Amino acid sequence: MTSVLSRTLSVAPLAAARAGARVAAPRAPIFRPAVSLKFAARALGSPAPNFEAETTHGPIDFHEFIGDSWTILFSHPADFTPVCTTELGAFAQLEEEFEKRNTKLIGLSANGLDSHEKWIQDIEEVATNGGRVGFPIIADPERKIAFLYDMVDHQDLTNIDTKGVAFTIRAVFIIDPNKKIRLTMLYPASTGRNTAEVLRVLDSLQTGDKAGVTTPINWVPGQDVIVPPSVSDEAAAAKFGEFMAVKPYLRFTKYPTELLKE
Ligand code: BEZ
Repeated sequence: MTSVLSRTLSVAPLAAARAGARVAAPRAPIFRPAVSLKFAARALGSPAPNFEAETTHGPIDFHEFIGDSWTILFSHPADFTPVCTTELGAFAQLEEEFEKRNTKLIGLSANGLDSHEKWIQDIEEVATNGGRVGFPIIADPERKIAFLYDMVDHQDLTNIDTKGVAFTIRAVFIIDPNKKIRLTMLYPASTGRNTAEVLRVLDSLQTGDKAGVTTPINWVPGQDVIVPPSVSDEAAAAKFGEFMAVKPYLRFTKYPTELLKE
C-alpha cells in the first residue's frame, strides 16, 4: 500500500484576502504521493525504516547509528522557533540520563545544516544549567525522513514554510536495539513535550523487557509493577516471590531490582 502523502498548500488566497479581495472559501489541501512507502512505517513493533542523512555530527546511516543502543528519534517543526528552542535545551540537559539507559538521542527538523549549527548556539545560550547539545540533529530540508516516518503536520495548516510545504510536528520515536519502533508520541507544533515523560516511558519499556512486568498509570522507577495476566500465580511466586492480588487479573509486585541487573 502506498499512502504516505505530501500536500501543497496554496498561500495566494491568504495574500488576496489581506489585500481586501473577496476570495472563495479555502479548499481542502491537496494531497499527493511524495514517496512510496508502507503506511505501517510507524506502527508499534514495526521495523524502524533505515535512511541515510546529513547531521550536525556528519553523515549517518541510521541503523549503524543505532547500533546496539536504544534510540530516541525526535522531530520538531523548525529551527529558531520558541517552543523548539526550549525543547532542545531540555533534551540536552537530560543527555546523561539517556546515556545511563544506553540510549542515543537524535533530533530532526526540516532545515539545513548551516541553520542547525547556528541555532545550536542559541539553544546552548538559553538552556538552563548550561545544557550542551551533544547529540546530532538531522538536516531534512526536503522532508525525506519526515515523510518516511510520517512526521509531517496533517492538522495545522499554518504550520508551513514559505513555499507552503508542511513542517514537521513534534514526534518522538523510541527504537530498541533490535531496531523496532517501541513507542511513538505525536504533539502539535503549539505544545512542547515533557522530557520527564520521555524518560519515564523509556524506563517502563526497559523494565518490561528485562523483568517481564508491566507498569501502571503514572508509574516511575522504584514503584510497584504489575505481574502480567499471562503469568500464572505459581510462576509469579517463583519469579517475583511475593505479590499482591487486588483482583485475580491485577497483581502487583515490588520493583524488580534484582531482575533489572545486567
Ligand atoms: C515553536 O517552536 O514555537 C513553533 C514552531 C512552529 C510552529 C509553531 C510554534
